[in-house]
Amino acid sequence: MNFFTKLTVVTMSALSVFSCADGNDAPLYKDASKPVEKRVEDLLSRMTLEEKAGQMNQFVGIEHIRANEAHLTPEDLKTNTAQAYYPGFPADTIEQWTKEGLIGSFLHVLTIEEANYLQELAMQSRLQIPIMFGIDAIHGNCNCPDNTAYPTSIGLASSFNPEMAYRIARQTASEMRAMNMHWTFNPNVEVARDARWGRCGETFGEDPYLVSVMGVESVKGYQGDMNQDDVLACVKHFVGGSQPMNGTNGSPTDLSERTIREVFFPPFKAGVEAGALSLMTAHNELNGIPCHSNEWLMTDVLRGEWNFKGFVVSDWMDIEHIHDLHATAENIKEAVYQSIMAGMDLHMHGIYWNEAVCELVREGRIPESRIDESVRRILDIKFRLGLFEQPFADPQTTMQVRLCDEHRQTALEAARQGIVLLKNDGILPLDEKKYKKVLVTGINADDHNIMGDWTAPQKPENCVTILEGLRMVSPQTDFVFVDQGWNPQEMSRAKVNEAVAKASKCDLNIVVAGEHMFRGNWTKKTCGEDTDRSDLDLVGLQQEMIERIYATGVPTVVVLVTGRPLGVQWIADNVPALLNAWEPGMYGGQAVAEILYGKVNPSAKLPITIPRSAGQIQMIYNHKPSQYFHPYVVTESTPLYPFGYGLSYTSYEYSELVLSADRIAADGTVDVSVNVTNTGKVAGEEIVQMYLRDRFSQVTRPVKELKDFTRVSLAPGETKTVTFTITPDKLMFLDKKMKPIVEAGEFIVMVGSSSADEDLLKASFHVK
Ligand code: BGC
Repeated sequence: MNFFTKLTVVTMSALSVFSCADGNDAPLYKDASKPVEKRVEDLLSRMTLEEKAGQMNQFVGIEHIRANEAHLTPEDLKTNTAQAYYPGFPADTIEQWTKEGLIGSFLHVLTIEEANYLQELAMQSRLQIPIMFGIDAIHGNCNCPDNTAYPTSIGLASSFNPEMAYRIARQTASEMRAMNMHWTFNPNVEVARDARWGRCGETFGEDPYLVSVMGVESVKGYQGDMNQDDVLACVKHFVGGSQPMNGTNGSPTDLSERTIREVFFPPFKAGVEAGALSLMTAHNELNGIPCHSNEWLMTDVLRGEWNFKGFVVSDWMDIEHIHDLHATAENIKEAVYQSIMAGMDLHMHGIYWNEAVCELVREGRIPESRIDESVRRILDIKFRLGLFEQPFADPQTTMQVRLCDEHRQTALEAARQGIVLLKNDGILPLDEKKYKKVLVTGINADDHNIMGDWTAPQKPENCVTILEGLRMVSPQTDFVFVDQGWNPQEMSRAKVNEAVAKASKCDLNIVVAGEHMFRGNWTKKTCGEDTDRSDLDLVGLQQEMIERIYATGVPTVVVLVTGRPLGVQWIADNVPALLNAWEPGMYGGQAVAEILYGKVNPSAKLPITIPRSAGQIQMIYNHKPSQYFHPYVVTESTPLYPFGYGLSYTSYEYSELVLSADRIAADGTVDVSVNVTNTGKVAGEEIVQMYLRDRFSQVTRPVKELKDFTRVSLAPGETKTVTFTITPDKLMFLDKKMKPIVEAGEFIVMVGSSSADEDLLKASFHVK
């Protein structure tokens, strides 16, 4: 008898008669009027070890498996682990396990029909514990068809608009619940410090404070009050993978405890404090210990220091990788042991888990009480999200929520606020009367790739490409389109020649270049998850095409669609206008066109530095004082565009930086006020940024750190006074013994429109 049949027998023979404290037939845990803690304990007391192990496991949806079964050969079906297939474990067995209560969660279930179907199977199980469906709803639930696709996090962060992060998370939660999905693997609160890393677009950029603020609002938006309208958030990936050794996803990280605590921990801690109830560990090893078996991270810090009350989930195959990649466990069972004992609660994806957990408990290596701890945490969340009361979603009403007008409007607004104007020699906004015939070309000109990574194919009517946006916004312009295909690695020279030939006959050229992120083209993409680069140049013939189009002498505008900073030095030096659209989502095409034609005044600022080249990495604004003591020879030591930078069609003047005090006690506060005036001719929104520097300190401190920001809208000629308050936490750092301290001495306050010194007004105060 193999493990799978054995489990069936064990579970069936364990059928228990429900008994309740008050003598009714329904067990206590099914009574919604009882406190969650009591329901959890009641249910836990009825569960077999196999059922407990099952609650701690997550499987890939059966449609996903069936799609693989359809194209794999019988031989492959026994061994192939690619594309989330479980060798020798067909979809039918997954159905059977679900009916037996041996699976607690699924991921990659993409339709409401499948979610409801699997839930029906779970409702046939002995204890009827509902399934919790997890999904990568990274920028909306658009990893599933027919959902709103908002800009990805890097664009959202460019808006410096925390309210927008909250709103998007709230709307995403409602679209998810309308599909019977309960748990998003988001927000990604990693601090992105390497532009080669393909996942920069999934993050809120390079600054710990900005990442924290946006992450906290996302957590609050997803989780609400943790009831039937809400979804579980997941702060990920814990920790350090956003500064990978060689830029590649999941490669080792070697970081000092100071850097971990000062740079990488703060957004996770802030997320936990905001109430995040799940956390995902990172692919990478950290200082020699895989994050998935790292007791310091999962237990000492997360639970001991931060009092985390939720559960920890592993990332894709990463418990297995403790054995087969990091090689710190001799087999998978040992890897499971190490991971659970270090603090892991829920295993993403895989069949070995249930058997290993049961054996380890029976052998006495893992106490059952340790398993109970994890199951409690998971059940607690299932109860709080109302899954027992509402295990299904209604297919009749689902589309009243998904893609509703309000959500579409938010997607458009977020795109308008998240597109960064990097260069404008005065050609923008475009004059329709002057530029009557306009060439549009480039891999991202007419492609759904603008929706970004973590997007499933969406219906054509649910995405406005940039070409479509241009035609919509400027109907009188004659747009001449030359299609370059979507794949930068397979561009055709004939098509480039055609674009160049047509360019010279137009009044203006718009080239929409960048990266390809669409995960449906997994092996062809140039950016996104597991898609890292050793340079930051435009891939394929894109650069050549731009240079040749520019050489026609006809004015040329470049729009970049990308999930990572691109080192487009030549373009920045030569082309008169450059717009960085990031991955602007379903209405990205409309927003780009509105900005190009001046219907919308751009306001976004960079949440991540754009280096000139990969060789400059690590290129961050909040570096230590000695970083450029000896600058590079031959090439520049400054970034192409600094953190916090972004242009507008109006101009702003900063004046009268005033501090409320020039001396404060260590627990005192200082108000910082500054006047911001719109000195141009159009209304705009300016992102006012405040940085601090601790002038002399017992350990080295960054040359500046963002400590606050706000968006202000200003009519032409209008002045507003912006006030920030510096509280002790903004002055704090870790002393030589790693204890938080506010040290006496001088602090420099810098307020302005970007992190560049020339854009900042400065004043200083002293802590006594
Ligand atoms: C990614 C996670 C993601 C998971 C499930 C992994 O490869 O690293 O961020 O949540 O897959 O799709």
